[in-house]
Amino acid sequence: MDLIVARNREDLVAARRPGTVALVPTMGALHEGHRSLIRQARERADQVVVSIFVNPLQFGPNEDFSRYPRTFDDDLDVCRAEGVDVVFHPGVDDMYPPGRQVSVSAGQMGDVVEGEFRPGHFDGVLTVVLKLFNLVRPDLAVFGEKDAQQLALIRRMVADLDVPVEILGAPTVREPDGLAMSSRNRYLSAEERKVALGLSRALRAGAGRRTPDEIRTAAREELDRNPELKVEYLVLVDPRTFTEVKEPYEGVAVLAVAARVGGTRLIDNVTVTLT
Ligand code: PAJ
Repeated sequence: MDLIVARNREDLVAARRPGTVALVPTMGALHEGHRSLIRQARERADQVVVSIFVNPLQFGPNEDFSRYPRTFDDDLDVCRAEGVDVVFHPGVDDMYPPGRQVSVSAGQMGDVVEGEFRPGHFDGVLTVVLKLFNLVRPDLAVFGEKDAQQLALIRRMVADLDVPVEILGAPTVREPDGLAMSSRNRYLSAEERKVALGLSRALRAGAGRRTPDEIRTAAREELDRNPELKVEYLVLVDPRTFTEVKEPYEGVAVLAVAARVGGTRLIDNVTVTLT
């Protein structure tokens, strides 16, 4: 079947087929990370919908909304190759009608870690994701662990607001040298890309240790070797609440980092199990 491009609610209704629907929300500039989410959706549902929408609400005033890569024709080729049924690609005016007032608040969990450096970011993410759920009405939706706090907040929203959708998490896809795939990697020069490898290297160094303090220290030492990495945070948190893990701790924790390399802001994380 041919790929259908839907631009508004009416197009989505017309594209609807019987059976289960899986949604993969994206902002486009699709790479292998997105493709792995699409494959997971393809395995689980009869119809796969990929949304491509660069959401202005989740960008701060000094962030990269206007220069965010927009590669729609290439994205359509990726979706075709992955057997996607529907690409939902609304305009900003379709998503946000004039007079808009009501939005989702991410609560305290939206103000910590990534939220401390990107005020309002998660409110914007949750608002657009809830709107996408209401427009597409999927049975399930797939999100990447690459954005661990986003995934945790989406699970929180679905639980707190009784949203009738199943949320699936998908592991982070990396380049062979360890760099986590990201649409923003295309901003990096060859030199900057080498510096950016310091993020995944630090996470690996931390993940090899046993206690919370050792994990933080090992990761921090690795980051400090690389003065061109402008670190914004390095935290070891409970993956459900994004609060710092304190000793003694047993269970799964997330070691997360954000840093600037030149003009590009990158995030990455790994899961560590503490016993
Ligand atoms: P975007 O950055 O395009 O990411 C879309 C989805 O792909 C997210 O669930 C993200 O976690 C996942 N993803 C990105 N890089 C990945 C990688 N290397 N491995 C695995 N998954 C990866 O996240 C957003 O868009 C937006 O905030 C959105 C949820 C679409 C709301 O606007």
